[in-house]
Amino acid sequence: MTNIGSYDERVKNFSWSIAEKELDYKDGNIINIGWYCSDRICEQGKGDKTALYHEGFTGEQRKYTFNDIRLAGNTIGNFLRKLGIENEDRVCLFMDKIPELYLSFLGVLKIGAIVQPLFSAFGDESLYVRLENAGTKAIITQRKHAGKVRKIIDRLPDLEHIIIVDQKKDKALKEKEVAFNLTEEEPVEKIDIYPTKADSPSVLHYTSGTTGQPKGVRHVHYSLISQYLTTKWVLDLKDDDIYWCTADPGWVTGTSYGIIGPWSLGVTQCVLDKGFSADSWYKFIDKYKVTMWYSAPTAIRSLMKAGEELVKKHDLSSLRQLASVGEPLNAEAVIWSEKVFGMPFLDTYWQTETGCMMICNYPGMKVKPGSMGKPFPGIEGVVLDPKSYEPITEPGQAGLIAFKPGWPSMMTTYWNNEEKYKEKFVNGWYLAGDRSTIDKEGYFWFIGRDDDVINTGGHLVSPFEVESALIEHEAVAESAVVSKPDEVNMEVVKAFITLKPGYEVNDDLELSVMNFIRKKLSPLAMPQEIEYVENLPKTRSGKIMRRILHAKEWGEEIGDTSTLEDD
Ligand code: PRX
Repeated sequence: MTNIGSYDERVKNFSWSIAEKELDYKDGNIINIGWYCSDRICEQGKGDKTALYHEGFTGEQRKYTFNDIRLAGNTIGNFLRKLGIENEDRVCLFMDKIPELYLSFLGVLKIGAIVQPLFSAFGDESLYVRLENAGTKAIITQRKHAGKVRKIIDRLPDLEHIIIVDQKKDKALKEKEVAFNLTEEEPVEKIDIYPTKADSPSVLHYTSGTTGQPKGVRHVHYSLISQYLTTKWVLDLKDDDIYWCTADPGWVTGTSYGIIGPWSLGVTQCVLDKGFSADSWYKFIDKYKVTMWYSAPTAIRSLMKAGEELVKKHDLSSLRQLASVGEPLNAEAVIWSEKVFGMPFLDTYWQTETGCMMICNYPGMKVKPGSMGKPFPGIEGVVLDPKSYEPITEPGQAGLIAFKPGWPSMMTTYWNNEEKYKEKFVNGWYLAGDRSTIDKEGYFWFIGRDDDVINTGGHLVSPFEVESALIEHEAVAESAVVSKPDEVNMEVVKAFITLKPGYEVNDDLELSVMNFIRKKLSPLAMPQEIEYVENLPKTRSGKIMRRILHAKEWGEEIGDTSTLEDD
């Protein structure tokens, strides 16, 4: 029996109060995600149940019960309070997928501060713009990443504390740095949980747009309601499941479904802090007897490349359900997974802004390979005509994906950028920024993004951010950044650049430009290809026309070029 039962019945009888009741939440009550994910589970008598199996990159293993994560959250929260962190202060988590990342997430929320997770592979410039925008007060990090923070600290007057979780206390530290090692701390049995309410801010995730700096998506504690219910109904998690979400908590999947969803249900999850390899992933599933696995299309396509024979070498019989998110899941991948794992990857579509799954395939519902599925019960999802912004009723016609606002985990604003937030709404609809069709049975079929943002391996990269960084390289005069097709990552970053006088194209220069971006921004943002050009296509007003470069890369029609500079 699946948790959702009949999708159609759920749609007919839906109310978010189902989740509110199961979580014993009533309108106006205190709702604190940190408490719900640990203390409440202990109060239900599951304190000794394993909350987290963790395996580090050198193979070391650690295990935490729900009582352990409750205590660790208290200890971290208490420490932060003593440092002077107050409710609504922003605390950044800048760590690899080590246990402290997951435990600090709870600790920060317990004291009512706002948790700002950032991907630890970010370079100093990516880190700087996000900390500066959020006015972050403290950052929790590891020794290996502290150097990046030191590089930018002088430009961040609001940043008061750099907390290093793997530093011995007696070590000489730099200005503003403080050592905090959980293993050396006395566990704190009880702290006053901050009485956050439904609209109290909880998580601040940064996402990339086409223009301007990254936007801080502000979520609230009430988002728990939809994260809990979608985890229960889509991922179908049950009490005895062993769940593995492969996403990094630097991104929204890693927090909504890599922390909040499973732990609010009291489900055991496991984490592997290691780069991708098909063999080590299968070994991990076998070793921890993973039953439910939530991953991403790029990883699935890489598994396909590694081949079926490798699958047969492992005992994966524990698996009972698979799901995917982040980028288009091609039909071939769904069919392949049915063949080799005996079940399809169920595609789910959502965004940092939506905070929870919006369009999904549900256990028990017919899967149409290549389709994202149907809106979650209670979610009104449509495609809008791009001109009139009216819902398209004709099946199969392409339009803009839009949702009727009002689900619990909808973002409440972009941090310090209410204007950009307002731009996301039209005619009472929230515009997701993607295009899709809907077939006559109500299934959504993804077409593409409605902007220039690059989705590489499930991670969004802003062409604007890469272009701005490129022109800081000594040799680069101008740049334009677009996506180009890639077999595994679907899209990768490609840069077109013009050089300053005196520089010439050679391998050293290419390497230098690529490394410059990798270090400054991140490995994801690093162009996989650089094309040197004499001129970039521009409009008469001097705006670079990425559209033309993009069309060439994808073999598409170039369209109207009448405003081109050299026409
Ligand atoms: O373009 C869509 C794509 O990823 C975008 C959201 O990215 P982000 O905010 O980083 O969140 C990713 C994880 C929730 C969407 O606007 N996307 C996400 N899921 C799918 C998808 N594209 C196609 N199919 C999906 N299932």
